Amino acid sequence: MPLFADDFIPSTGALPPRARFASDAPSLSLNGEWRFHLVPDVASGTEGFWEPGFDDGTWKRFPVPSHWQLEGFGAPAYTNVVYPFPIDPPHPPEENPTGEYRHTFTVPADWDGHRLVLRFDGVDSAYTVWLNGVELGSATGSRLPAEFDATPAARVGAENVLAVRVHQWSAASYLEDQDMWWLSGIFRDVTLLARPAGAVGDVTVHADYEHTTGQGRLRIDVTAAVGVLQSEGDGARLAGRNSESVEARVVVPELGIDVAAGEDVVVGVEPWTAETPRLYEGQVVTPAELISLRIGFRRVVIEDGMLKVNGRRILFRGVNRHEFHPDRGRALTEQDMLDDVLLMKRHNINAVRTSHYPPHPRFLELCDEYGLYVIDECDIETHGFVFEGWRNNPSDDERWRDAYLDRMRRMVQRDKNHASVVMWSLGNESGTGANLIAMYEWAKAHDASRPVHYEGDWSTVCSDVYSRMYAGHAEVGEIGRREEKPLDDAVQDAARRGKPFILCEYGHAMGNGPGGLAEYQELFETYERCQGGFIWEWIDHGIRTRDDSGREFFGYGGDFGEPLHDGNFIADGLVFPDRTPSPGLIEYKKVIEPLRITVDGAVSDGRLPSSGSPDGGVKVTVSNLHDFADTSTFSYRWQLEQDGIEVASGELDVPVLAAGESADVGVPVSSTAGETWLTVTALLAAETAWAPAGHEVAWGQGCVVPRPEPRRMAHVPATVDESAIRIGTSRFHRHTGRLLRLGEVEVDGPRLDVWRAPTDNDTGQHSGEPAASWRKYGLHRMRHRTDEVDVDGDALVVRTRVAPAAWSFGLLVTYRWTGDDDTLHLDVEVTPDGPWPDIPLPRLGLGMALPAGLTQVTWYGGGPGEAYPDTRQAVRVGRYMSTVDALQTPYVYPQENGHRIDVRWAELTTGGDGVPGVRFLGEPVFGFTARRWTSEDLDVARHPHDLLARDRVYVNLDVVQHGIGSGSCGPGTLPGYVLTPGPARFAVAMRAVNPPR
Ligand code: GAL
Repeated sequence: MPLFADDFIPSTGALPPRARFASDAPSLSLNGEWRFHLVPDVASGTEGFWEPGFDDGTWKRFPVPSHWQLEGFGAPAYTNVVYPFPIDPPHPPEENPTGEYRHTFTVPADWDGHRLVLRFDGVDSAYTVWLNGVELGSATGSRLPAEFDATPAARVGAENVLAVRVHQWSAASYLEDQDMWWLSGIFRDVTLLARPAGAVGDVTVHADYEHTTGQGRLRIDVTAAVGVLQSEGDGARLAGRNSESVEARVVVPELGIDVAAGEDVVVGVEPWTAETPRLYEGQVVTPAELISLRIGFRRVVIEDGMLKVNGRRILFRGVNRHEFHPDRGRALTEQDMLDDVLLMKRHNINAVRTSHYPPHPRFLELCDEYGLYVIDECDIETHGFVFEGWRNNPSDDERWRDAYLDRMRRMVQRDKNHASVVMWSLGNESGTGANLIAMYEWAKAHDASRPVHYEGDWSTVCSDVYSRMYAGHAEVGEIGRREEKPLDDAVQDAARRGKPFILCEYGHAMGNGPGGLAEYQELFETYERCQGGFIWEWIDHGIRTRDDSGREFFGYGGDFGEPLHDGNFIADGLVFPDRTPSPGLIEYKKVIEPLRITVDGAVSDGRLPSSGSPDGGVKVTVSNLHDFADTSTFSYRWQLEQDGIEVASGELDVPVLAAGESADVGVPVSSTAGETWLTVTALLAAETAWAPAGHEVAWGQGCVVPRPEPRRMAHVPATVDESAIRIGTSRFHRHTGRLLRLGEVEVDGPRLDVWRAPTDNDTGQHSGEPAASWRKYGLHRMRHRTDEVDVDGDALVVRTRVAPAAWSFGLLVTYRWTGDDDTLHLDVEVTPDGPWPDIPLPRLGLGMALPAGLTQVTWYGGGPGEAYPDTRQAVRVGRYMSTVDALQTPYVYPQENGHRIDVRWAELTTGGDGVPGVRFLGEPVFGFTARRWTSEDLDVARHPHDLLARDRVYVNLDVVQHGIGSGSCGPGTLPGYVLTPGPARFAVAMRAVNPPR
């Protein structure tokens, strides 16, 4: 008899899957302190540990739910695609850490006569359960529930000993190759349910909505509980089903419904959508128990080549969500789940793909309640077989059929009553094959109310939508026009061409970025077929850990001694491991905002307004991009800022707009002097379930009065003496022409800088590009040679050549310095020299160093957050204050960050101890970065705590940076944001500023 963990059988002794519902019948949480013992392999297992009399006094006290690797037993390990054991299904490796769990509890005496059901909501990866020494069964399917009948083994009114043996690896591990940490153990709740005589087995809610009539149709099927799943050889047979109906009434007081279970009732309702998550409280009443339900009426169909909810095309503004907490792994608390939902709602996200397994069931209740569309994904991924050319892929091997179907059944049955679940997904990256088709067919036969999704088979034979990951913008455009390259099979091609399109993963949020989101959104809004997408992914899975000297950091692959790992590819989320929003989330919030506000047609890069509104003010256009909701929940404010200082503000009246409508309104603007911007914000007028009143949902900004051309004053002469060159109070090196003192401030004066510490997105997943070429051609080690230092009238002219060792190409750079009373002006001219390779530049600008004490930063320009040419939607023109430290974005893997865009001026000071600071002035604008370490330090650091403050503040003033793109997994920088080397001229001014003493 093969060991259970070594077999294709999905489970033994488990009860048939059913919906999760809340009953007033009693239950007992068995979460809490257990006893735990870890053995290195199955053979070392403790004989008889499941016997009630076994002495576990020396075993560790241990929390359930949890992962043992995060509780001091073994270590987490991260691989993306590769299996960390030899591929030889169904065999797991012999080194198979096995957790032995024991828990003692008392079954209440008044549970006598009840059937007792023991439920495990998630155990990774295969486990066997004993109660009082009696084996109840075994299960796999880490992120799926399993229930066992505990009645015969339980001792009511007395102490019971529950024992569970959990293997880290099992045959099922071949089906669970998701890109995440390998973490084991009982990581979700364990509950003992008392099921009274005559209790309900299963409840199925059919709550349809007909948008043309406004009528909801409700039918709730209720069946009695019978049978267990029985296994035969390596197949599994459903011996009993929750099929016999029971006598029950369905009551929905708010709708005046009181009908027998199984009866159809049609009644006028408010429908459920993610924007308007209307739920009705209902009950199933039987003589034995009362079951509470929250019912949302909605209809999901594919019609006219589009996915529609309640008759309308919807747009997914989605994210892929793994369950993760930096200390608890996938053992989430309810608060963690709520934190995710609230953060998503507050950032305009309306959809979640539960990548790549069904989430904790509570998460779906929150999605119903707060309003998020869910693609509920089954716990299947066999990606590691890709290295074998998909040979022996379980997805196409009949021996795995039961395991595939078992997983689909358990997901659909558990989650079928959630209004939020709008599609089932078969799993992720599991190739193609008959088992996936069988899952698809099972889902269609058992739930006609939801389309099915699967990305891994582009012929879409087992998917109702055409789904892709990381398709580039151009291809998405083709698909949107239904002009994509045809499939070989004409029938399949025609079928696919008629299906809606989603990007189940796009915008790889690894480190700095992703770039190009606005361009994707434009495609989604242009082509009806493109129904949005799901950013990869929600959260960085960094595990909180410490180095030898106790410094805390978020660990990634390789930080826990794994011989095989995928490094920091695990840190690719919109929120950091501690759920702090990253700049990527702020950008996404702006890109997907459900109201679009444009101020007089101006765009935030400062283009001029074209015309005033009819009533003489500035024209503001508000468009409602919701699919359903009107704008009655919003209030609006306007704010006029002159040179970044507010000069006027007020409330703005905007008529209530139905979904899809727009309106123009005027904001009366009195004439101002100086650069003036009008910002209009849409705020929640009243508190909602997910955010307080005043929460900002959307905004628009436009330039009302442009910035006057910066003017240069009369020049002071440049002079030379033995020791230095001087312009006004500033001093330059006699031989290199480099600025040494700016007024009273000692500086390592500006030089051309083309290097940035590559971002994850600069390091393309397979090619390593463009960073690999940057290094090959030495852009990280450019040398500067001074060819000429010339005082030419009022100007100091320095001619240099900047080039990498080992190559003959370079950049000729001329710096022309002039000065007026207190300000230095620098004109820079850059000309490529020699045979340049076909690579972009990381950045083009100036780098310099200032005294370490200049830590306070004020600037006028784009802010408050970082921005790059293709990640700049979320910044607005304003005046901002920060510190050098606070300007840094602590990406889990250090890389270029913190760049502020379109800066008119920036000032660095000590914060007022009489020490002079520095002000940089754009002619007209520059990109600003300041940090306590160099780009080279940033480049070599592997974790944020590797970055140690030097005794200087390093400042970059950029003309432009290369775009960010999404190349860490997906398309690189869009052509419009590629920084191609070419002739360039730019100018900047600077002066010392003296705070009052
Ligand atoms: C996809 C996969 C995800 C993740 C992502 C890269 O191919 O579905 O699970 O690995 O790539 O981060």
